[in-house]
Amino acid sequence: MAQKNCSILPLSSESLAPVGQWLRAGHVAALPTETVYGLAGKGTDEKAISRIFALKNRPQFNPLILHYAHLKDIERDAVFNQTAFLLAENFWPGPLTLILPRHPQSRIPLLVSAGLQTLAVRIPKSAFLQALITQEGFPLAAPSANRSGHISSTTAEHVLKSLGKEVDFLVDGGPCVMGIESTILDLTTETPVLLRPGALPLEKIESLLGKPILSQKRDDSVVKILSPGLLTSHYAPRQPVRLLATSVESDEGLLAFGSSPCEGSALTLNLSETENFIEAASRLFSYLHLLEASDVRQIAVMSIPERGLGKAINDRLRRAASKRS
Ligand code: TXA
Ligand code: MG
Repeated sequence: MAQKNCSILPLSSESLAPVGQWLRAGHVAALPTETVYGLAGKGTDEKAISRIFALKNRPQFNPLILHYAHLKDIERDAVFNQTAFLLAENFWPGPLTLILPRHPQSRIPLLVSAGLQTLAVRIPKSAFLQALITQEGFPLAAPSANRSGHISSTTAEHVLKSLGKEVDFLVDGGPCVMGIESTILDLTTETPVLLRPGALPLEKIESLLGKPILSQKRDDSVVKILSPGLLTSHYAPRQPVRLLATSVESDEGLLAFGSSPCEGSALTLNLSETENFIEAASRLFSYLHLLEASDVRQIAVMSIPERGLGKAINDRLRRAASKRS
């Protein structure tokens, strides 16, 4: 897996010192989180942030998530309300990103939030990331480590395939445990709004808060302003994607779900034979990468129930299938 220009390090405490040194100096590194690999840079360094946007070819109107190790550090940059504290207590560290108002004394450059007066923050579950952030004393800005608009990376190989030689450093932690990005909740309005379904099922949040969360469809005008990155075609493999398949052509690849996959495909990958959403989420991006690398003409996807993690999986698949811009 050796690749020109990219140093690959193991996920171990010995890697903390060199990775910390590079990040301090403004380099960017691909690092594993419990959800997907992130392309991380020093969150208070405008040059490092610019480099992240450039490497990913990400439009600068699409803001980044900041990763912290301690709640008290987030409070320096973002303003918490009661709901935010409650969610933080219950779900951090973990796959939940909160959109909060920017603190007037925040150290975070506006480039991180694409000029918005809000910040996206979370504490990831990874012990390595927590140790790294604690050691360095700055948050890490990190979008998913893939070319903008392309399939997210859940292994080091995906990162190299998607961002290739351009990544300076990569910590190889093997496949990400969850395999699907964090749930994003906007807490800047009276009622919390779900901006992106993700690895933390909405039902768990609703049961903690004791009320339903407003779910904005990604083409609603509110989300257009709040979360520009959730709009366009995303997670797109090379080939077209066809949803809700009940049959499959021989030159199509099939992304199946459940115990009776459609028959006749050249290549069938089953997200979960037992309809287990956790298994399906963890396989989703890997299987999209495999199908993309195969010679199938189109990717047919069987229907997946719209509940629990199924919502996050369907969100990614709908965007993978949506018209490319
Ligand atoms: O699990 C995850 O969330 C991964 C890992 C690396 O933490 N990160 C991730 O980042 O998925 P990214 O950049 O691929 O997606 C972040 C999303 C984008 O759609 C962006 O538009 C939205 O978060 N976002 C970031 N800051 C925002 C803000 N201030 N207001 C609204 N949306 C925001
Ligand atoms: Mg992404």
